[in-house]
Amino acid sequence: MSSLAGRQVLVGVTGGIAAYKTPELVRRLREAGAEVRVIMSAGAEAFITPLTLQAVSGHRVRSDLLDPEAEAGMGHIELARWADDILVAPATAHVIARLAHGLADDLLATLVLASEARLWLAPAMNRVMWDAAAVRDNAARLAERGVRLLGPGSGSQACGEEGQGRMLEPAELVAALSAVGAEGPLAGRRFVVTAGPTHEPLDPVRFIGNRSSGRMGFAVVAALAEAGADVDLVAGPSTLATPPGVRRVDVRTAIEMREAVMARIAGADGFVGVAAVADYRPAEVAGDKIKKSDSALRVELVPNPDILAEVAALAERPALVVGFAAETRDIEAAARGKLEAKGLDLIAANQVGDDRGFEQADNALEIYAADRHWSLPARPKPELARELVAIIAERMPLREQHSQ
Ligand code: CTP
Repeated sequence: MSSLAGRQVLVGVTGGIAAYKTPELVRRLREAGAEVRVIMSAGAEAFITPLTLQAVSGHRVRSDLLDPEAEAGMGHIELARWADDILVAPATAHVIARLAHGLADDLLATLVLASEARLWLAPAMNRVMWDAAAVRDNAARLAERGVRLLGPGSGSQACGEEGQGRMLEPAELVAALSAVGAEGPLAGRRFVVTAGPTHEPLDPVRFIGNRSSGRMGFAVVAALAEAGADVDLVAGPSTLATPPGVRRVDVRTAIEMREAVMARIAGADGFVGVAAVADYRPAEVAGDKIKKSDSALRVELVPNPDILAEVAALAERPALVVGFAAETRDIEAAARGKLEAKGLDLIAANQVGDDRGFEQADNALEIYAADRHWSLPARPKPELARELVAIIAERMPLREQHSQ
């Protein structure tokens, strides 16, 4: 059975010549088992008629946000909730810019903002436009928020030029959508993931913290969920949005993080420690705000529990325990040292400092297992996270078969 069976896919068509491929896309999505509804931007109607898309989708096509008759049926908020996936194909430079900036100036842009569905964009434009710094920035900003960019591909273009900017073929788009969902490689597996920094209080208003933004951890959580895993996220202080379908508990300190992890770890198949847990906390937390004085302030720090090492040492530990290591030098030796010392199955190491790693949209990872090494060069964190999750899925031991 295709993983598109029963999926509710909203196809958004915008004004590019590649819109002529959309009827075939809709037909193929339906053949793969998806239920499809189509919305069009005003520009799209210059390239293809609503009647064609109504015929292939089996539903009325909407293009107007303020259409009283359509709103009386399935209103735009209902449509936003209805969708499991929103696929914008073709996605013009204009719609990419509007989505990157969060505009809500037509039906499609409004639906995207109002929906928790997976968002896929199939860019299609002239190669010079695709290369333009503004388009690249907008696409990178969307990718960083977890939006999935499909292509563009290379080849001859409608404008007569050769290069990157062609919309992927309908069959390729359908294959990409089918690759995620309930039948992903980690379907039926449960993961506990830590992400973000921890804040260790000194007094009621101050804490010791670090520069972790939580982006890498949240990207790993999103990629695990996409691969079909059931995920419990234990998040340190972070304003990032929870990826769809993920259970989240917010914590502040390393001690709270450890408690939240231990309360959820029984029966988990995997644990991924991405959090930048503070190694130390103030021995005492002042009950009142510490007042300024002329003498030096001495703070005694005591070690925090190592959550990752504790999980790996549990008698009934998850089948796969994965750590992260942020290193400023000698990455391989340091990472392999932690792999062994903490009893991990995999460790993902990156170089930090010199503005690399923390707070950055891109990252590079060196991943080590006792018997293997993978090198993932710099790319946006969501992409990197998907590759790490592919390695996790590959290394996940098969379930024991219980004989009756
Ligand atoms: N980690 C953890 N609990 C801690 C410290 C770290 O769970 N108290 C986890 C992190 O989530 C990460 C891994 O351990 O997956 C590596 O953390 P890192 O700080 O690089 O390693 P340390 O063992 O603290 O070594 P050092 O700081 O000396 O490099």
